[in-house]
Amino acid sequence: MPLRHVITAQQFNRTNLRELFREADFMEKLCRDGNCDLLHGKLMGSVFYEPSTRTRFCFEAAMLRMGGSVITTENAAQFSSAAKGESLEDTVRTVGQFVDVTIFRHVEAGAALKASKKSPVPLINAGDGPGQHPTQALLDLYTIQREIGHIDGITVSLVGDLLYGRAVHSLAYLLGKYKIERVYLVAPTVVRMKPDLKAYLKRHNVPYTETQNLMKAASASDIIYSTRIQRERFGENTDLADQTMGQFKINNAVMDVMKPEARLMHPFPRNEEGGEIDTEVDDDPRAAYFRQIRNGLYVRMALLKMLLIRNSNRR
Ligand code: CP
Repeated sequence: MPLRHVITAQQFNRTNLRELFREADFMEKLCRDGNCDLLHGKLMGSVFYEPSTRTRFCFEAAMLRMGGSVITTENAAQFSSAAKGESLEDTVRTVGQFVDVTIFRHVEAGAALKASKKSPVPLINAGDGPGQHPTQALLDLYTIQREIGHIDGITVSLVGDLLYGRAVHSLAYLLGKYKIERVYLVAPTVVRMKPDLKAYLKRHNVPYTETQNLMKAASASDIIYSTRIQRERFGENTDLADQTMGQFKINNAVMDVMKPEARLMHPFPRNEEGGEIDTEVDDDPRAAYFRQIRNGLYVRMALLKMLLIRNSNRR
């Protein structure tokens, strides 16, 4: 079945991931050749109820570079008729009368699925609260493939906020599709990974170890995937969030114990004050996070092409 809406990472399998990554490689080549104008006449709507730097700009850049057009609201809660009490279902149903694809970010887990049920056009979940961020995980996995050369057999440390971090949730679901050697879960006690996601890893034969020993995990890993403490998801308990910040900071001392061929990744934004990655490591060639951001452009181009050209030809 071709993908229609992209809501969760579990929708993907090894076959369509391989196809997507091949397509992303191809999009990079087309861009380099100045020849990626494939979506002329297509219109994308981005409806964001939460702030974004990477995801919105990346999707919009992908669409514009492919010759398509974009209409956008970057603060839908305030600048759409949601401010007059319109439901998100009515909003996406309305936007879908005008556009060919909707990119949707919301503050609540499950909102993207709810919206997709009423969307007349493909809808892509660009992050639903503490739920999932599937396209971030796609570009993360693509980055692992490019940087390490393979995904099967790797050891991964997932570090930071594993409870509220939606990008790390989606990545963990994708890792479950591969023969992963081991996943280290390195999180402050209050933001440990949820039991249902750990059960998923177990069901998919991904061995995992929960530990607070960052040095040990980092020295054993091929990928160290650091994440921000999601302070905005702590409600009244921001003091608790503040106490956890900086607990597993990646600095030169951590880089010193990492394997020479390992890579440090982060979905970004990193919190300047929370300091989960010290800027002193930015020039280390193993710090892959800006390459990771760039890769998002090609993966999202490939995804838009898949949804707007290939799948519509099949339907
Ligand atoms: N990684 C990510 O989702 O970043 P933004 O919140 O800036 O879109």
